[in-house]
Amino acid sequence: MKDGQSSRTAEAAAALRANHLQNAENPVFSDPFAFELTSKGWKKLLTTPFTVKLMNSTVFNRTLGLLTGQVVGRSRYAEDLLEQAIQRGTQQYVLVGAGLDSFTLRQAQQYPNLRIFEVDHPDTQAAKQQKLKEFGEIPTNVEFVSIDFEKESIADALARSGFQQEQAAFFSWLGTTHYLEPQTTLHTLSSIAQIASEGSEVVLDYSIDYRELDGVERFGSLFVSQFTRFLKEPLKGQFRPKDLHQAVNEIGYQVIEDLSGDGLSQRYFHQRPDHIRHTIATHMLHLCLK
Ligand SMILES: C[S@@+](CC[C@H](N)C(=O)[O-])C[C@H]1O[C@@H](n2cnc3c(N)ncnc32)[C@H](O)[C@@H]1O
Repeated sequence: MKDGQSSRTAEAAAALRANHLQNAENPVFSDPFAFELTSKGWKKLLTTPFTVKLMNSTVFNRTLGLLTGQVVGRSRYAEDLLEQAIQRGTQQYVLVGAGLDSFTLRQAQQYPNLRIFEVDHPDTQAAKQQKLKEFGEIPTNVEFVSIDFEKESIADALARSGFQQEQAAFFSWLGTTHYLEPQTTLHTLSSIAQIASEGSEVVLDYSIDYRELDGVERFGSLFVSQFTRFLKEPLKGQFRPKDLHQAVNEIGYQVIEDLSGDGLSQRYFHQRPDHIRHTIATHMLHLCLK
């Protein structure tokens, strides 16, 4: 990330969620706060008839729209699993690399016993807190914990907060490992394993090696890599699923599920008339601490 600048890719992700809710029939994920949370530039694009038409055309949905599928698919997957974890009694939710995720606005009051920790880069977090205040008081069950994953461990960061190490927690880590060196992702997973109790869960998305892609998927990955470079948040982290599974097993996690892009399309985007589907360039990984 560029020093002193809040995450531009977080704004882009919020814009894609906003566009999806505003324009897709039967949205896969509904985020009614995404439009207000994104940047002025994105708001302009989302209210300009030409760009709205373009961003919701069949051609777009079949190509660059794969990014929309990725962004709404990962949130839907994580919150479906979070819901199940809460039903089983989990009372701590840690949004790692929270960005402009609006869970706090959408759900904090619905789950008053859930303690929510938003862990993010201080620049992104400061800008977000400013925006959240426009919606009124920040719910009291939400705590903000700042971190730079490249410089500090998440265990140290959470140790500064009210996080209860002896209680199970659900961690979602969405849209972030792509921007970190693979070693930083593995160190962060090790650090979570140090601080979280047995039975805690982690859900994250990760990129597979773009050389395994072809056709529109390869083109889409190249476009995303150029776009994020332009936003000063270049893509750095890719994994081979087998290697990642082995690494997380060694850290102490059990892989509950590794859902491929096609698996996500089957589960959430089946036969949509608007052709939105999930890219095969990223997977969702659901881990549980042994
Ligand atoms: C694409 S956004 C994803 C935001 C959100 N999880 C979502 O799904 O919309 C990437 C997030 O990673 C965070 N991030 C990137 N590099 C980071 C670093 N080195 N330390 C802390 N956070 C970082 C950014 O601040 C941003 O919130």
